[in-house]
Amino acid sequence: MSHDLFGTPVIAAPMAGGTSTPAFVEAVHRAGGLGFLAAGYKSVAAMQAEIRTVRESGARFGMNVFVPDPAQLRPSAALLAELEDYRLQLLADARRYGVELPPLRVDDDDEWQGKIDALLAEPVELVSFAFGLPGADVARALQRVGSAVLATVTSTAEAVRAAEQGVDALVVQHTSAGAHSAAFLPASGAQPGGTTAELLAEVRSAVDLPLVAAGGIMDAAGLDAVLRAGAAAAQLGTAFLRTDESGARQLHKDALADPHFTQTRLTRAFTGRQARALENEFVRDHPEAPEAYPAIHHLTAPLRAAAAAAGDPERLNLWAGSAWRQAQAGPVAAVVHGLLAGR
Ligand SMILES: Cc1cc2nc3c(=O)[nH]c(=O)nc-3n(C[C@H](O)[C@H](O)[C@H](O)COP(=O)(O)O)c2cc1C
Repeated sequence: MSHDLFGTPVIAAPMAGGTSTPAFVEAVHRAGGLGFLAAGYKSVAAMQAEIRTVRESGARFGMNVFVPDPAQLRPSAALLAELEDYRLQLLADARRYGVELPPLRVDDDDEWQGKIDALLAEPVELVSFAFGLPGADVARALQRVGSAVLATVTSTAEAVRAAEQGVDALVVQHTSAGAHSAAFLPASGAQPGGTTAELLAEVRSAVDLPLVAAGGIMDAAGLDAVLRAGAAAAQLGTAFLRTDESGARQLHKDALADPHFTQTRLTRAFTGRQARALENEFVRDHPEAPEAYPAIHHLTAPLRAAAAAAGDPERLNLWAGSAWRQAQAGPVAAVVHGLLAGR
């Protein structure tokens, strides 16, 4: 199978947290790409409302869902103690803004079952998963109602596991990618060097599924490289963050163009799961945040909201892939057309 499943080699990544709005997804479609809505952090009702909005526009689209980690939902006593320590560390940040930190919340599964039930009741063409595998039963149920199922993997070992669940395609995410790593096997976080195209080729030699390459793809040359390595399409996040239709905060968009920020880092400081962000004071101040997602996401929510309200980019989660400097402002169509130029 080539990129028939997608109909285009350019996929705009699902970007939870406000970036992938229906208007953004529609603009990607009109320009000749394929957009994904992001269910992460949203209620079932909000997810359904977005599906209906994009469906009414006639645009093709996919939906992305976070897979909860059962182990994280039942943290050990040791991890709870680490979380309490981290909470104490964050009190200084809270005082700075005069906000209260919420009590620890460890049982949030992002309404997993409700989202799956809703996607079975009102099927969408493509459903992708991140942070874990959906399970063979869920994959099969979605396929039965007509959806193609994609799993996100970060290594060959994860790709093999995903293929065993009978999914239709894989998103292969390289460590250069902006925002959260989708890794779900412990050893797979540490990818020694290598490029996105190299990782893609490695996965391709292990599994026989259509592959979508993600991580650091910013222009037509980057797209060519992964297609030559055997990808059916590329999934780009950071390249779209600054666009007019992107729902990212202006503060985030401005920071991506600000020469004051000189590198990205993988950090757990904001959410408890490794994510690539522009290195700012908050990232530097909290290098040892425990691995506890989404508990830390909830803990830092009021801090992030206060930083945003204060216009303070030093304490906001400025998600960015390592090629962020190439992210352009302007219409989504300009980015998609630039990628497709010459095709
Ligand atoms: C702001 C932002 C939010 C993201 N949110 C999601 C998400 O909700 N689900 C998901 O599967 N991937 C998400 N990603 C990761 C993308 O799917 C993709 O792997 C990544 O953007 C590719 O690397 P790039 O940013 O260098 O293009 C997000 C990326 C960014 C930049």
